[in-house]
Amino acid sequence: MKIKKRVFSGSRPSGKLHLGNYLGGVKGYIELQERGDLDCIYSVVDLHGITTPYEPAGFQSQVHGIVLDYLSAGLDPKKCHLMIQSSVPAHVELAYLLGTTFPVSRIEQLPTYKEKKAQNPSYINVGLFYYPILMAADILVYKADLVPVGKDQEPHLEVTREIARNLNRMFGKGKEILPEPKRFATPGGYVPSLTGEGKMSKSIKGSAIFLTDNLSEIEAKLAKVTTDSGRGKNLPRQVGVVALLALVEMFIGIKRKQQLEKDYLSVGIRYGELKKELAVAINNDLSPIRERRAYFVKNPAEVDKILVEGQSYCQKIAAQTLAEVKQAMGLV
Ligand code: TYM
Repeated sequence: MKIKKRVFSGSRPSGKLHLGNYLGGVKGYIELQERGDLDCIYSVVDLHGITTPYEPAGFQSQVHGIVLDYLSAGLDPKKCHLMIQSSVPAHVELAYLLGTTFPVSRIEQLPTYKEKKAQNPSYINVGLFYYPILMAADILVYKADLVPVGKDQEPHLEVTREIARNLNRMFGKGKEILPEPKRFATPGGYVPSLTGEGKMSKSIKGSAIFLTDNLSEIEAKLAKVTTDSGRGKNLPRQVGVVALLALVEMFIGIKRKQQLEKDYLSVGIRYGELKKELAVAINNDLSPIRERRAYFVKNPAEVDKILVEGQSYCQKIAAQTLAEVKQAMGLV
């Protein structure tokens, strides 16, 4: 029996974690683990990571890199469980069962599916199609109530709720088999790309600042953000400037952003100075993360132990849910 409310979330190992993943995802994971009244499970979703082109030879080190990013960002194995998705095969088995209840047409309409197809037109595989169902299974196999994710994942959460509802209606005989989860939102639920177009993303060149970047790397990336003359009659609309101001709000504060907007309409903004100020503020947040990372890099056995504990904890819960769903669907 589940007593505490449960939390589940995950990140794909398709590159290092960036500020978007940190503010939209990981900061929420940390906030919820700190509450103490929740059972939190956080995952590296490696099976989702292979739905887009990837290098098998370097894949394990990418998976491990996300675990290090998680621990160094502040996930605390005393307060949450860390697991690798493929280490608990029940996710995949449940995904198959759930897939049999869900219409193909609904997946085809999803904006996330359409985006991925457009990004990799020569790699539209069945795994990509199954992506939202596997994500639903990740969450539902733990009967999670809360899912800390960025705004971009809302369509997937809606699918997850629909799947739970369908299953309950079709096989629940008036009882709830799986609960409908909610998104837990953080203030950084949408971090724009440094290119100014769309969200910060691992797969777009020049788009992201990574958690491992140092001050000079952050400065160099901000220096490349395109700006305008720094002054105008209306608030800035140039996409690079909009992205810079969004980062100012997230890392320095709303007051500083408001001040800069006033400056834009009067004395003007000096972007060179602003970019330096912003780089320092971002670096202040990232430097303790880099220090903790160095500790975990030196202690790989500790990291392995955390993952073994996470796997064994999760296996038990997942096996129980799978048994319940199989029973309800008439498979046993
Ligand atoms: P992924 O790996 O793309 O991103 C991991 C987390 O980072 C958030 N995020 C952002 N938030 C704000 N601004 C951005 N620019 C930005 N970019 C990414 C994402 O919203 C996410 O919280 N489908 C998921 C992985 C997944 C999952 C799950 C998540 C698979 N199964 C079950 C939760 C529960 C994804 O692709 O995340």
